[in-house]
Amino acid sequence: MAPQLSSSFIALALLLAVASANSGDLHEVSSLAFSYNGQYGPANWGSLNPTFSACSSGKVQSPLNIVKKEAVENKNLAPLTRDYKRANATLVNNGFNIGLHFEEDCGVLIINDKNYTLKQMHWHSPSEHQFDGVRYAAELHLVHQDVSGSIAVVSMLYELGDADPFISKISDKLDALAKEACAGNEEAHIPIGVLDNKLLRKNTRKYYRYVGSLSTPPCRENVLWNILGKVRTISKKQVEALRAPLGDDYKQNARPVQPLNGRKIELYNEFTN
Ligand SMILES: *[C@@H]1O[C@H](CO)[C@@H](O)[C@H](O)[C@H]1NC(C)=O
Ligand SMILES: *[C@@H]1O[C@H](CO)[C@@H](O)[C@H](O)[C@H]1NC(C)=O
Repeated sequence: MAPQLSSSFIALALLLAVASANSGDLHEVSSLAFSYNGQYGPANWGSLNPTFSACSSGKVQSPLNIVKKEAVENKNLAPLTRDYKRANATLVNNGFNIGLHFEEDCGVLIINDKNYTLKQMHWHSPSEHQFDGVRYAAELHLVHQDVSGSIAVVSMLYELGDADPFISKISDKLDALAKEACAGNEEAHIPIGVLDNKLLRKNTRKYYRYVGSLSTPPCRENVLWNILGKVRTISKKQVEALRAPLGDDYKQNARPVQPLNGRKIELYNEFTN
């Protein structure tokens, strides 16, 4: 079975769901609900629906607290090769996060000679992953999928500080999205035209790699995570802008950290490689 990322919302939440084999398409709509609070919150995800069972029974779940001194440097890891292009993007509020979806040809992440195509990016606030027990202001997930359906995520953590230049570029559209949400159109899509992804193509001097899961239901496993070591900054206003279009139970949309269960977190470090 190949995986599929889906989108939807609240009462009819769009979910990341398992889909048919060999489809490179990440869009799969589910009419199931989950949230980040109370009865439908993370502690109960696994029992909300049989297809969500991995959320409670899975042994390699995400996110994790990355204890830096316990990460194992692996000199066989390569720099993360990313070749993102200018691409048309659509700003999407799927009800549980705000993200950008790309057309097919937006660029690739190359890991072990495998090309993973960038499909979408989305933000969580506060961060889902932690470094040494510290939860940051926000986290960006760049979700890639290869031709066989395997998923690789590149993740960046943000602490409060200067505005993030990439979010600045789309801030007027975020405001428009918030207005749509206020008008009751929560599952809004706003075309934002051609976006220069150069801003995301910074050098990767350090990253942490481990095998985990999607951090939203159905919590599908065997996702290859790559958490960049450099923490970037985001302004308070930008965090608010990312939350504004979301409903109350989704404004804080970080799943709690999950048990390591003996997994090794590997470290790539350009300076010592
Ligand atoms: C983006 O979409 C517009 C309108 O559909 C199209 O004219 C343009 O060529 C597209 N640009 C790229 C880089 O795909
Ligand atoms: C993988 O991506 C690189 C860089 O964009 C490209 O040169 C190469 O042809 C791609 N390989 C495959 C098998 O698509």
